Amino acid sequence: MPSQSPIRSLRPAKWWRFLGSAPVSALASSAADRSGRCGRRPSVVLVTGSSSGIGLATAQRLAASGHAVYGASRSKSPAVSWTQLTMDVSDDISVDAAISEILAREGRIDAVVHCAGVSLAGPFEDTTTAEAKHHFDINYFGACRVVRAVLPAMRRQGGGRIIVVGSIGGLLGLPFVGQYCAAKFALDGLIESIRPELRSFGIEATVVHPGDFKTPITDNRAITGATMPGTPYFSAFQRAVAFYGKVEREGRHPDVLARRIDRLVDQRRLPVRVVAGKPLEVLGVLAKRSLPSRVFERIRDAAYGP
Ligand SMILES: NC(=O)c1ccc[n+]([C@@H]2O[C@H](COP(=O)([O-])OP(=O)(O)OC[C@H]3O[C@@H](n4cnc5c(N)ncnc54)[C@H](OP(=O)(O)O)[C@@H]3O)[C@@H](O)[C@H]2O)c1
Repeated sequence: MPSQSPIRSLRPAKWWRFLGSAPVSALASSAADRSGRCGRRPSVVLVTGSSSGIGLATAQRLAASGHAVYGASRSKSPAVSWTQLTMDVSDDISVDAAISEILAREGRIDAVVHCAGVSLAGPFEDTTTAEAKHHFDINYFGACRVVRAVLPAMRRQGGGRIIVVGSIGGLLGLPFVGQYCAAKFALDGLIESIRPELRSFGIEATVVHPGDFKTPITDNRAITGATMPGTPYFSAFQRAVAFYGKVEREGRHPDVLARRIDRLVDQRRLPVRVVAGKPLEVLGVLAKRSLPSRVFERIRDAAYGP
């Protein structure tokens, strides 16, 4: 496991409180976290995107914590300690079938951790509407399908936990991944909007916005078809994508995030959003909220600009 973050030294000020949560490592054992727990561990948890990266680490962590984990994705993982289901989040029938199977076996779903997602990069001008729609169908409507499909069971059983994985790119717009950011911004708005609808049924929902984690998402990233050498944005785009790849490869192990999600599954009340980033990533979110937008943009462009 990674060493404790230097952010620990900032803990007394609890400066991250207004974000709704704290950097992953900063909250590792905080009293605030422990006091939010109800002590009763949900037993049946669906993790989407369980074949790789954050979803795989989360399914492993939750299974190790004693939950009955159902991991769902299109492909399967070799030898795992949880039940694997096939699910394509872009397909209503596939989503409904996987959730029906869990309900048939267990009679309930206590929590869903939605990790399934893809990355799309490309200059906005080069990105076709078809490419953007396909991306939204997985990253935004995929989450909608899964959450809608578990709600009837959660309402009937009188509660549940919904944890949707977004991205810091869902709080800060970043160049050359505009459609990815837009889908993640949409998820943030969705969760904020539906929380009051769900509260009276005892259902808690949150969106976890990770910073950079070292997962196969970097190699799996789709690039818009029209982006080719010689096109106007190409050089700047290449520099940006190389930078995103570098920071992801230097990112933390997804088990760091899985441990945070494990604690969220136990938490009685969930915050609207959780920013799960390194100190500088969290500071970026804080800077956007507290600085004039032009000042923030200058800082953002210095960090991510073409
Ligand atoms: N890694 C990071 O730095 C980072 C940062 C911020 C946010 N995130 C977010 O975290 C989530 C997980 O990313 P990751 O880094 O773990 O990526 P990853 O290693 O590429 O894993 C993506 C997972 O999503 C599943 N998936 C993709 N399309 C699917 C579909 N149509 N139906 C069902 N499952 C599908 C994949 O499984 P199959 O291909 O087998 O279906 C895989 O299990 C994504 O939403 C991503 O945007 C990641």
